[in-house]
Amino acid sequence: MCGIVGYVGDTKTVDVLLSGLRRLEYRGYDSAGVAVLDSDGHIGTRKRAGKLQVLADDLQTLPVRDGSTGIGHTRWATHGGPTDVNAHPHLGDDGKLALIHNGIIENFAELKKELLERGATFTSETDSEVAALLVGEAYRETGDLAEGLRRVVNRLEGAFTLLAIHKDQPGVVVGARRNSPLVIGMGDGENFLGSDVAAFVEYTRKALEIGQDQIVTIRKDSIEVTDFDGNPVEPREFEVAWDASAAEKGGWSSFMAKEISEEPEAVANTLIGRTADGAVHLEELAPLGDEVLAGIDRIVVIACGTAAYAGMLAKYAVESWSRIPVDVELSHEFRYRSPVITERTLVISISQSGETMDTLMAVKFARESGAKVLSVCNTQGSSIPRESDAVLYTHAGPEVAVASTKAFVAQVAALYLVGLHLATVRGTLDAKAIARNVRQLHDIPEKLAKTIESANRLRELAHWMADTQSVLFLGRNVGYPIAMEGALKLKELAYIHAEGFAAGELKHGPIALIEPGQVVFVIVPSPRDKLSLHPKVVSNIQEIRARGARVIAIAEQGDAAVHPYADEVIPIPLAAPLFEPILAVAPLHIFAMELAAAKGLDVDQPRNLAKSVTVE
Ligand code: F6R
Repeated sequence: MCGIVGYVGDTKTVDVLLSGLRRLEYRGYDSAGVAVLDSDGHIGTRKRAGKLQVLADDLQTLPVRDGSTGIGHTRWATHGGPTDVNAHPHLGDDGKLALIHNGIIENFAELKKELLERGATFTSETDSEVAALLVGEAYRETGDLAEGLRRVVNRLEGAFTLLAIHKDQPGVVVGARRNSPLVIGMGDGENFLGSDVAAFVEYTRKALEIGQDQIVTIRKDSIEVTDFDGNPVEPREFEVAWDASAAEKGGWSSFMAKEISEEPEAVANTLIGRTADGAVHLEELAPLGDEVLAGIDRIVVIACGTAAYAGMLAKYAVESWSRIPVDVELSHEFRYRSPVITERTLVISISQSGETMDTLMAVKFARESGAKVLSVCNTQGSSIPRESDAVLYTHAGPEVAVASTKAFVAQVAALYLVGLHLATVRGTLDAKAIARNVRQLHDIPEKLAKTIESANRLRELAHWMADTQSVLFLGRNVGYPIAMEGALKLKELAYIHAEGFAAGELKHGPIALIEPGQVVFVIVPSPRDKLSLHPKVVSNIQEIRARGARVIAIAEQGDAAVHPYADEVIPIPLAAPLFEPILAVAPLHIFAMELAAAKGLDVDQPRNLAKSVTVE
């Protein structure tokens, strides 16, 4: 939440800041602002409530003077509403210092009181202004921005990334991070700071990770990183695995439309180099040790939202293949109770952004409690991988739309690989069975592409249903997490009441919701499923149809048994039962997107949300 960019160099600073903010806008879009230090030592600041375009238009009519040093911010409001004054940057040292902040300063009220007693004046309702004023005071005492920041950071409680510039330190941007993201981009005669690499990937793919509790100073030709005590630190260098065009809309109506179209590629890229000759090779799991993995007696998956549904789905496959019990827990629920964890527990965290604060805190807690943590993550240089024992990256490419789509299918593919790896090291599946499942995984991208290509009927349905007030989703077994995912997408994109249920639970309460005209999506299990769930779900369809529901079934191609009872059938290609849900999810993503579009809503930036939830 909140996107941050910093720049020192000779390219037009406002342009660098705006292009970085454009790529970070998914992190928050309540307001935006920039501060640029020009060659006369004057800081020009512009900040506006609303989306970034409002600021960009403002900068057209009333430009700031160019300079070689600047910071920019896009905000997801926490303390104080989305207004011009609450937008960042905030000023300190009588306007000589500009500061931006991502995170929450939990003890801001106490610090504000102290500042007020010293005669400070506040112009905003934010917690962030406290940091600007404190760093301003510290600068007056030290005459050095990094030292000023160092004096203040240990007084702040909570999570923060701070970037600051000062009129007396041209060519310098200083940043500090604790539990909020910040990465460095290394250019040629220019350097960058950003909440993630998207902020500068247009200019450089060379990046450095900054650890927790570290301070960074960038100049045109130098980068210095220290810990909060001032001891030098050697940051880890990495190359960004994708280029700027991957984060462009490229002719699509929305990032979400583009990203759904990339679901097949996200799965394919996640599998690349990780299987050979029908076996799974996950070098990334080496830090955990195959002997340790062979001995684990429980897996706990921690994640939030869509990532948690990926975990719920993978549970069926991982348990079936490896015979290890899997519990899936929402990170924030796991963190604040007293879970039973032993050295034989493997915790798997799942996060697209690698920055979700709830998951980050749960990861730290799991390790402190003695568990090994494997993270499945899509974002290089992010916080969660740094805090984990091992990381398996999904290669979905940058996901810009706030609602997660291609990352979900990539997460499932990665988790299926983990399941097959565990089955291999524990000997619970023979080589033939592993090879069969590996083949099934490799078939997914093509089948997913076919599913997406044939989604036109869904688009029509979505437009026809633009006024619908409530949609229910039913699924059983592997279809259950898909039902939950379908409901979440519809809620967040189309602002429609939607709920996902386990179909078996229907008669235990939810059937009371069915009244004539109620739209119900049903994820129908494969008729070839050995568990014989298909007839049970077809009976559920008849039960709700009898009460007037309008049923849209997502069913395997050629499933004749479902046609007489469903109002609409959306066919998906045949796949083994554990793999079909990866195909069934795409129609639900498309439906939610189309319905939101039919209502005239912004599908990439739904209200009240941000992509990276970096506060608890
Ligand atoms: C829903 C969605 C969210 C995220 C959740 C976790 O479409 O995108 O529910 O899945 O906030 O985010 P990450 O995966 O970044 O930890």
